[in-house]
Amino acid sequence: MDKESPLYEDMVDILKRKKADQLTFHTHEEIWKEIMPEFYKVAKVSEVPIGTKKLVEVDFVPVLLFNVGGEFYAMEDVCTHDGGPLGEGFLEDDEIECPRHGARFCVKTGKALCMPAVEDIECFPVKIEDDEILVSID
Ligand code: FES
Repeated sequence: MDKESPLYEDMVDILKRKKADQLTFHTHEEIWKEIMPEFYKVAKVSEVPIGTKKLVEVDFVPVLLFNVGGEFYAMEDVCTHDGGPLGEGFLEDDEIECPRHGARFCVKTGKALCMPAVEDIECFPVKIEDDEILVSID
């Protein structure tokens, strides 16, 4: 790969983050696979109507899907206060309330909105292909 390649800067970033001596790339396809996050089909669009949530599992990680006004979002199903299952919490607009002690989080950003939680929850990229919802936890 030469420095003029559009992938060059991405490769430099990857090599900085990983042990360069353990990486061996031979083709653009291998490089592309390393750069691009892997998306998993997790549900049909029709399974998550507007204003609802659905608990799925992605590579052993519990993930909550949300449909807020027709836009889909995904976050880890673990409350940062004490590990409560947010999937059993109350969803209103773009906020979900933890059923254990009442912390609320923005489902679009994972931001902790009130005590007792002070740490944000990890959110994941979502994309829609045809009628499938795909999530990446990379
Ligand atoms: S475990 Fe969620 S608020 Fe305590």
